[in-house]
Amino acid sequence: MKRVAILISGGGSNMQALAESMSGDHPARPVLVMANSETAGGLEKARAMGIPTAAVDHRPYKGDRAAFEAALQDKLEAAAPDILCLAGFMRVLTEGFVSRWQGRMLNIHPSLLPKYRGLDTHARALAAGDSEHGCTVHEVTPALDDGPILGQARVPVTPGDTPEDLAARVLEQEHRLYPAVLARFAAGDRRPVMFP
Ligand code: GRF
Repeated sequence: MKRVAILISGGGSNMQALAESMSGDHPARPVLVMANSETAGGLEKARAMGIPTAAVDHRPYKGDRAAFEAALQDKLEAAAPDILCLAGFMRVLTEGFVSRWQGRMLNIHPSLLPKYRGLDTHARALAAGDSEHGCTVHEVTPALDDGPILGQARVPVTPGDTPEDLAARVLEQEHRLYPAVLARFAAGDRRPVMFP
């Protein structure tokens, strides 16, 4: 049984979808949900699901990323995960941290990578006049929002969409895609999951 730690910063809707998917004959189980803030809404959701939680506030480290990541690493070593899922985790991780977990760390990004790395992806897709948009699950490598693609889900852009409309449509697909990718990845299968 693979042990999965999920890192969050906010509401944790992707965390919740992942945690709920890990049941029955699924080859993985959640062993930790960790946030970079004590007040991340997802921590309460994890506690309600009976999943151990941790919080390491990044602010006291004032930009000393290595020290912040050492604190994360301590909590992770205690939980001994086989797989790390970044799910709405909004801190950039250094090469030092990534290299320790590379090959075992996934992230979900709200665009059809390699388009729109970084932030404000929905507004950028609308500004570009794209007819479709979506989300990507990828293996985390030191370069931001880069790394081998493990899955993508596409949604149509409809006339009059606001960034919020698009974000909601993409988020719905994130909650389908990420669990599907994790189930495959945990079984040792790295073939990409493509929706539709
Ligand atoms: C989602 O849009 C996801 O694509 C991005 O973080 C946002 C919030 O996710 N990575 P969640 O509700 O906290 O899972």
